[in-house]
Amino acid sequence: MSHTKTKIRAEAGELIVGDCVQEMARLQADSVDLVFADPPYNLQLGGELLRPNNQSRVDGVADDWDKFEDFAAYDAFTRAWLAEARRVLKETGSLWVIGTYHNIHRIGTALQDLGFWLLNDVVWRKSNPMPNFRGRRFTNAQETLIWCAKGEAHKGYTFNYEAMKSLNEDIQMRSDWLLPICTGAERVKKNGRKAHPTQKPEALLQRVILAASKPGDVVLDPFLGSGTTVVAAKRLGRRWIGIEQSADYAEVAATRLAEVTPLDGVDLETMKPKRAEPRVPFGNLLERGLIAPGETLYDRMKKVKARVRADGSLAHGPLTGSIHRIGALAQGAQACNGWTYWYVADEKGDLTSIDSLRDLVRKELD
Ligand SMILES: C[S@@+](CC[C@H](N)C(=O)[O-])C[C@H]1O[C@@H](n2cnc3c(N)ncnc32)[C@H](O)[C@@H]1O
Repeated sequence: MSHTKTKIRAEAGELIVGDCVQEMARLQADSVDLVFADPPYNLQLGGELLRPNNQSRVDGVADDWDKFEDFAAYDAFTRAWLAEARRVLKETGSLWVIGTYHNIHRIGTALQDLGFWLLNDVVWRKSNPMPNFRGRRFTNAQETLIWCAKGEAHKGYTFNYEAMKSLNEDIQMRSDWLLPICTGAERVKKNGRKAHPTQKPEALLQRVILAASKPGDVVLDPFLGSGTTVVAAKRLGRRWIGIEQSADYAEVAATRLAEVTPLDGVDLETMKPKRAEPRVPFGNLLERGLIAPGETLYDRMKKVKARVRADGSLAHGPLTGSIHRIGALAQGAQACNGWTYWYVADEKGDLTSIDSLRDLVRKELD
C-alpha cells in the first residue's frame, strides 16, 4: 500500500497515510530529533488460538501487515526503513525500536550494520502479560526497546537523566521498566472490539519521549498504528510526525489526537542536571553567612564530624582539605561528593544538607 494522503497537517505535526519507507524518503535529512518505531513483528502465527477455559479466540496479530515471505524479506524491509530513519535523524537525534523475541534480534543486527550506536536495551516487563494458554512455554512477559544514537561519534543525543531520576523517586532509572499493557478505558475500541491489535500503553511512550527529547523537538513514528506516539508527543509539547499505511488505523490515531490538549509549558519543565546549574564553591556559603567558620559538619548518621575553617577547608583530626577530600578520607573512599555527604545541625540537632544551602545561593543567582 502506498497511497500517500495527509490525514492531518497541524502546526505541531503531520499524520501521513502511506508506506513509511516512501514517506520518510520525502522528509528532509537531519530534521528529526527522536524516532520511535514499533514495526511489524513477523510473528508467523499459524492457526487460531483458543482460550482453554471457554474456547474464546485469543486476539493475536494475524493481520497482513505482519506477514513476510521469509526472514530475508523481513530483513530487507527492516534495513530499508532503518536507513531512511537514520537519514532523517539529526546528528543529535536518537532512535528507539520496540520488538519481541520474534524480531528484535534481527533488528539489533541491522541497527549495528547500518552504523547506529546502541545506548541501551530496555526491557519493558509487563505487569499483566497474556498467559501462555497452551502451557508449552514460559509466559511471554516482556518486550525489548533498543535505544541508539545515530553513530558512535554522535555523543550529543538528548538524555534527560535528572527527569528520569525524578520520575523514579530520586533513584537512578534502570533499564527494566515495569508497566501494564494497554487495557481498560485506555484501549481504543471500535464496534466493541480492539481498534488496533497492538496498541502500546501511553505511559511507555511518555517515558521514552520524556527521556530522549525536549519540548518543541520533532518526534517521528513510522509505524503509527493507533497513534500512541503522537498522542504522547502532543501531550508533552513536542512536534510530531506519524506515518501509517492503513487509512483505518490513521483514522483511529486522528480521533485520539483530536482529544489531546498539550500540557502547559511550565508543567513540561523537567529537572535539570546539577552540572548545568551555576557553580557555587563551598566558600560562598561562608561568605553568605549560611555557615560560620568554626561550625561543625556531620555525616548523615552524625558519626563523622569535621570543623569548618575560615577559608572553606575542613579539619577532621589531623586531616585537612576540601569537603570532597575530607568526605572521602573519612569514609576510606576513593572519592566523595562532599555536597551530599555533609550536613549542618541546628540548635535542636536537626540536620540540613549543605547541598540544600547551596540551592539557596543558586536561587539568588537565577
Ligand atoms: C506494531 S503496530 C504499531 C502499533 C502502535 N505502536 C500503537 O501503539 O498503536 C505496526 C503498525 O505499522 C503499520 N505498518 C506496517 N508496515 C508499514 C509500512 N510499510 N508503512 C507504514 N506503516 C506500516 C501497520 O499497519 C501497523 O498499524
